Amino acid sequence: MENLLEKIEDASKFILAKSNFIPEVCIILGSGLAELVNQLKVQATIDYKDIPHFPVSTVIGHPGKLILGELSGKKVAVMQGRFHFYEGYTMQEVAFPTRVMKACGAQTLIVTNAAGGLNPAIRVGELMVINDHINLQPMNPLLGKNHESLGPRFPDQHAIYDKVLIEKAKSIAAKNNIVCHEGVYVGVPGPTFETPAEYKYMRLIGGDAVGMSTVPEVIVGNHGGMKIFGISVITDEGNPVTPQKISHQEVVAAAREAEPRMSLIIRELVGVL
Ligand code: HPA
Repeated sequence: MENLLEKIEDASKFILAKSNFIPEVCIILGSGLAELVNQLKVQATIDYKDIPHFPVSTVIGHPGKLILGELSGKKVAVMQGRFHFYEGYTMQEVAFPTRVMKACGAQTLIVTNAAGGLNPAIRVGELMVINDHINLQPMNPLLGKNHESLGPRFPDQHAIYDKVLIEKAKSIAAKNNIVCHEGVYVGVPGPTFETPAEYKYMRLIGGDAVGMSTVPEVIVGNHGGMKIFGISVITDEGNPVTPQKISHQEVVAAAREAEPRMSLIIRELVGVL
């Protein structure tokens, strides 16, 4: 991306002019998880296609809107739909909106996704708070010239996912009788789902769930010094003992079924940030 700093400025100025408020929190909603926006007191809805330099999402289940509003008394910017490497974007493009959200003022990044379970204790429809990730995606979004104003050349990643937020989310889940695990998210490029041998490998290297998103936004959010919380909805089980066929439709359907539980956790978590 040529002139990254100028592009971030163009996009963030455009968004701030539309809303007249500074978002404190950015929430990125994954496949089938877009309903949280119905709980916002909406100030402005912006189509991605109108935001300067924003990519446009092409995947079913990803509406492609930025919604600014209030959730649990906090000012939030919700990305209803995200960009994926498998759509053909560069990693810099995938992570560009996160840069823009930071430039708009958001200090906290909440990322959600649909993921396949690797840990046999985690079942379809359950949630998993992300406590770390393994990046198996190609092309780190920080490749290329580093702008010190955005973050350091070699960012530390020893504690990307905020431990306090993890504990808060788990206690919100427990209080509401929602099954919520904690574990490691393996980021893969997709668009193929994994073979049984790949699921087995990802479990062996320490993964609890696998998905095709999240890691680039989180790398960039961490680079920019944002406080990060990530949560996965488990939509299928890559349990190597009983390999099962999966489709994107099933992933989206399972995510939609679990969405109210995830939204409840996020809504309450935002209230206690
Ligand atoms: N693998 C990769 N990505 C996914 C999966 C999966 O099993 N489920 C939802 N996203």
